[in-house]
Amino acid sequence: MKILILGSGGREHALAWKVAQSPRCEALYIAPGNAGTNQVGTNVALDHTDFDALHAFISSESIDLVIVGPEQPLVDGVADFLRSKDVAVIGPGKVGAQLEGSKDFSKAFMKRHGIPTAAYASFTTDQQAEALSYIQQHSLPIVVKASGLAAGKGVLICETHAEAATAVKTMLSGEAFGSAGQTVVIEAYLDGIEISIFVLTDGQNYKLLPSAKDYKRIGEGDTGLNTGGMGAVSPVPFADDSFLAVVEDEIVEPTMKGLIADGIDYQGFIFIGLMVVKGKAYVLEYNVRMGDPETEVVIPRIESDLLDLFEGVVKGKLAEKKLDISPKTCTTVMLVSGGYPQAYEKGKRISGLEDIEDAIVFHAGTRLEKGILVTNGGRVLAISCEGETIEHAIHQCLTKASFVDFEGIYYRTDIGKDLLT
Ligand SMILES: Nc1ncnc2c1ncn2[C@@H]1O[C@H](COP(=O)(O)OP(=O)(O)O)[C@@H](O)[C@H]1O
Ligand SMILES: [Mg+2]
Repeated sequence: MKILILGSGGREHALAWKVAQSPRCEALYIAPGNAGTNQVGTNVALDHTDFDALHAFISSESIDLVIVGPEQPLVDGVADFLRSKDVAVIGPGKVGAQLEGSKDFSKAFMKRHGIPTAAYASFTTDQQAEALSYIQQHSLPIVVKASGLAAGKGVLICETHAEAATAVKTMLSGEAFGSAGQTVVIEAYLDGIEISIFVLTDGQNYKLLPSAKDYKRIGEGDTGLNTGGMGAVSPVPFADDSFLAVVEDEIVEPTMKGLIADGIDYQGFIFIGLMVVKGKAYVLEYNVRMGDPETEVVIPRIESDLLDLFEGVVKGKLAEKKLDISPKTCTTVMLVSGGYPQAYEKGKRISGLEDIEDAIVFHAGTRLEKGILVTNGGRVLAISCEGETIEHAIHQCLTKASFVDFEGIYYRTDIGKDLLT
């Protein structure tokens, strides 16, 4: 099989790394990729918004399967477009992608299909007065969400009514997030522990992939600004078989049945963000692709041939495929540029990778400049290690991370610590 992966981050390097190991992988392209993906495949400069150019490349290289890493092309309808040209795709069409692209759509989906989620109401620009009065009678804290894609910045947990009112006004006016904020979801605050589960589906059957927990804040102890993710752990110790059986029963199966009932033919990943409150799981959100950096801990634990599973997805035969998962723990620590998630510089020379053994270094924001590896983003490298325990795996990650250097390098040393007791 000849494969094209869309995307350029650590998630895409992890997918490419795994796909390249399949005996059935004849050729692998990543668009646009990074310095790491180019070690396991061939990077190609393709613009995700130019569907015709994507298709021209797919035709000329006889690509058999396209794996879409990020959400934006899915929300833009790349999967429908390619399927209309008889190209097999991992990733939902435009309607299915609304599960992530519109929080209003996904909350209505959950409500319609009896999937546990926080109580909510949604409002559009012309309903500002109703939104403000809804806030006034709401208990604190109040969660205000821009409905559309906002690059992980569209959710505000407001401690006062005044703060929530300001958030709603700036969102509905378009000032805060443009059109993504012109519908808002206002929901009840859930106080619990977060965990993500990942589903791979052919539209009828599904496989539950390993669970993971990610660490969003820049600072130790989960403090400071939100980032794309500073590290991750898989599996999550409290997500044992009995917990997961209940989650499948109350959340995953109703989600699959809901998709089928709504006539949404969904092929690809579903990332389900959960908040566990007193042992009961509620859906915070769906994402229609894998998470980053969760992919960097989930993929290394998959022992089966990923291409074989993907073939099951696109042929509607996932039920016949085997999914073997390593019992080991995998953790990842993200090495980021100084200043991230605010302003940071790029083009810093990266050294020390050649000294790393017994770890997988997934590239996120890197590129080669005249043959020299340099930083090219806020999140630069994800170092993933396996271990018998979280403690062991994290110790490995931190040891390997200490070998790496670039100007301004920063990483958290407390990934997974909260799961130890
Ligand atoms: N109802 C809620 N109660 C408590 N925390 C929430 C709630 N909804 C979201 N959050 C917090 O905000 C984060 C981002 O919200 P989420 O719905 O996942 O949006 P996105 O990932 O698109 O920014 C979550 O990971 C969680 O920490
Ligand atoms: Mg989220």
